[in-house]
Amino acid sequence: MADPAIPTIDLLDLDGDAVARARALEALRVGFGHYGLVYVKNHGVSDTSALYDRFQAFCQRPLDEKQTYNRADLWYQRGWTPPNTEKAVVAGGQPDFKECWFAAPEALDPELVVQYPEVNAENVWPKGDDQFPGLYTKTGHELHLAGLALLRGAALALELAEDTFTKPCTGGPHIFRMLRYLPLTPEQTSQKKILWGEEHTDFNLLTLLPGGRFHDPSGAVSKAPDDGSGLYLRTRPTKEHPEGQLVRGTAPAGCIVAQVGQQLEILTGGTFLATPHVITAPNTSGWSRLSAAHFVHLHSHQLLFPLPKFRTEQTIRAYSPPVLAGTYGIKTLVDIGLAPTSALDKLGYRHYDRLASIRREESAR
Ligand SMILES: [Fe+2]
Repeated sequence: MADPAIPTIDLLDLDGDAVARARALEALRVGFGHYGLVYVKNHGVSDTSALYDRFQAFCQRPLDEKQTYNRADLWYQRGWTPPNTEKAVVAGGQPDFKECWFAAPEALDPELVVQYPEVNAENVWPKGDDQFPGLYTKTGHELHLAGLALLRGAALALELAEDTFTKPCTGGPHIFRMLRYLPLTPEQTSQKKILWGEEHTDFNLLTLLPGGRFHDPSGAVSKAPDDGSGLYLRTRPTKEHPEGQLVRGTAPAGCIVAQVGQQLEILTGGTFLATPHVITAPNTSGWSRLSAAHFVHLHSHQLLFPLPKFRTEQTIRAYSPPVLAGTYGIKTLVDIGLAPTSALDKLGYRHYDRLASIRREESAR
C-alpha cells in the first residue's frame, strides 16, 4: 500500500502567499527528511505518452541494431545500455533486468567536456526517428526545471539561501534516462527474489521520476497485471524501526516523484537522506515496464562535504574525506559496473613516466 504520510508538494505553493509557502516547505522538510522523497503536483511536466511510444519502438529494434548504440566507451552515459550491465552496489553482482537510453537534456559545460569526456559527451540518437530527440530533451528539460524549483524550496526549507543547491548544479552533468524493465520468464516470476531493480540509493543531487507504464506480452500498453510490481522505498531508520520501513512510492494521479540523492544527503549532513529504493517485478511473466528518471547533478567541481551549517563531529566523520563531485561520479560509475576500473587510474598523477624517462636518459649518458 502507498504510505499516505508521504507528502505532496504543490510547486505553485512555492510562489504563493506565506501560508502556501510554509505548507510547501514543511512538505519538503518531512518528505526529504524522513522519507527521502516527495510527490509533486503542478510540476509543469507534459504528458510522456509520445516519448514512451518512441522508446518502446526503439526497444523493439533488432538486438544487432541496438548494439550499434552501445557506448561502453562512454561508460553507457549516452545511447543504449544493454540488459545485465548495471548493478546496484549491494546487489552482490546481480545486474538489473533492464535496458536503458541515456542522453543529456541540458547544455554541456565546455570545460567539463574536456575534463570528464565520458559523462559530458554529445548526445547520440537512434537513426530513423526524427521525433525521439525532441520529445526526449523536452521532457528531460521540464523535469530539470521542476528539480530546480524543488531544490530552491529545499534550501529555503533548511533556512539556507534560496540558490544554495541550484547555483552549484549549474552546468553539471545532468542526465535523463529512459528504462525498460524486461519481461520475466515463468521460472523467474516463480522465484521470490527476482527484482527489476535492486535496492540502491541514487548518487546524484535530486532525481525526478515522471511515472511509467506497463506493456502486456503482445507489447500493447496495459494496466499492471497484478500489484506485485512497484517502487518501494526504505524510510529513515528510527528506534521503533531500526532498518527503516519499506513503503510503496506510488505517486497520486497527476504527480511526479522527486527523490533525494547521495549528493544532497552529503551537503546536508544527512538532514535530507538519500532514499534506498527497489523496483519489484510483477508476479506475472511476460509484462514489461517503461519508466524514466532525470538526474540533477552538482557541477563536477563542487566539493562533496556537509555545508558549514551541517558540520558536526559526527557528520564530518560520516562524510570524510571531502571529494569533488566529478571524482565521486567516476568512482560510483565504476562501483555500479558502468565504467571500467581503469577509469580510477585517471584520478592520480599521470605523468610519473616523465621523470622515469629523464632518469633513463640520464643514466644512458
Ligand atoms: Fe534509482
